[in-house]
Amino acid sequence: MSIKLQTKYLKKFIGEDEYKGVAPLVTAAHASLEAKNGLGSDFLGWVDLPTNYDKEEFARIKAAAEKIKKTCDVLVVIGIGGSYLGARAAIEFLKSPLYNNLSKDTPDIYFVGNSINPTYLNEVLAICDGKDVCVNIISKSGTTTEPALAFRIFKQMLEKKYGKDGAKERIFATTDKAKGTLKELSDTQGYETFVVPDDVGGRFSVLTAVGLLPIAAAGCDIDKLMEGARKAQNAYAKDDNNDCYKYAAIRNILARKGKSVEMLVSYDPAFTMMGEWFKQLFGESEGKDDKGIFPSSATFSTDLHSLGQFIQDGSKIMFETVVDILKPKKDLWLENDAENLDGLNFLTNQNMSVVNKKAFQGTILAHTEGGVPNIVIEVDTPDEENLGELIYFFEKAVAVSGYMMGVNPFNQPGVESYKKNMFALLGKPGYEGAKAELEAKLNAE
Ligand code: PA5
Repeated sequence: MSIKLQTKYLKKFIGEDEYKGVAPLVTAAHASLEAKNGLGSDFLGWVDLPTNYDKEEFARIKAAAEKIKKTCDVLVVIGIGGSYLGARAAIEFLKSPLYNNLSKDTPDIYFVGNSINPTYLNEVLAICDGKDVCVNIISKSGTTTEPALAFRIFKQMLEKKYGKDGAKERIFATTDKAKGTLKELSDTQGYETFVVPDDVGGRFSVLTAVGLLPIAAAGCDIDKLMEGARKAQNAYAKDDNNDCYKYAAIRNILARKGKSVEMLVSYDPAFTMMGEWFKQLFGESEGKDDKGIFPSSATFSTDLHSLGQFIQDGSKIMFETVVDILKPKKDLWLENDAENLDGLNFLTNQNMSVVNKKAFQGTILAHTEGGVPNIVIEVDTPDEENLGELIYFFEKAVAVSGYMMGVNPFNQPGVESYKKNMFALLGKPGYEGAKAELEAKLNAE
């Protein structure tokens, strides 16, 4: 395995007996996941996905990605939550957060439908002007308002540009295999469709067509991605003694000590969106029944200049999980300067990654001395195989962690509350009853 858990910075926070204390919970969680008989067991399709994926569809995904690469300057990916974060995170991690600005032979990729803000949509429409555009609309339910609205706008744009027949060659829909408005619309219009399996929840869907099509269109090797995930699947299925489960156990122990916030940290801006993906995965999976560790994320050293003060000296509510990427994609040699007017020669004649590593070491010592437990997850290089492994590591860890906490990690009942209110306020048919009541609350003094 290229992913390794490093626990040496936890010694003063967790004793050996504490691991023994939660071990039966880990064993039980592992057994439930393998036997598929725990809470939410209808949504365990992600467990075997790296092995049991639809090979015919996988080939179609690769063919569609090639078609997109050949025919488009811009790919607009429409989706929200689990139908958006994984693809964007993977592309930024494997390619670059500056992907769209770099010279390349793959299309620029813009993600829309992840907010209702009109300015952003107008800006992406303007970017598409005069360019060849393809659209990948992704929605498991096929009814989520944000992507549905954005799709209406981009579908109209494509139809104006290419006609209905031309547009349908450029629209790829990823949704339920049989039901939902998007599936019906796609079948009526003749779009190529890809499937979000019934038993894979949105936040666990990055290794389905949801993530794979945009990731492949960006020129990433999805075979290697699945290979990495498969390695992790096999490693964590064997028994209950592995780094993934140990990470879940540590989180559980720290939560019992009142550490109610986890900050996922990396020293690579290309990992920032992985932090967003992690927040959804852990937040939606664990945050329920008045329980859960609040997931947050930061990129260092950037955020040491904003959040650093709080982490070091503020209330002791958090622990950090640092994803330490051992080798950067591209290093930068720091030359000596004869004049040394900036006084930085003490940093030269070495790679910039060495300076970054010292920042990591200095910070982890300071934070742990300041009372903040630090877990380290080492990742060798930022490539497809390792990302596949890392994705699976976090997916399995949150499943074990949720079971240890006694919640169903695979539902998200709380997400519905805001939607119901929004629909009622917008006058959606079927929500008439609640409209007046909500308006009265809003208008109350
Ligand atoms: O994890 C989840 O289930 C959610 O975040 C969904 O992914 C999100 O709400 C989008 O749903 P859908 O894919 O049905 O449009």
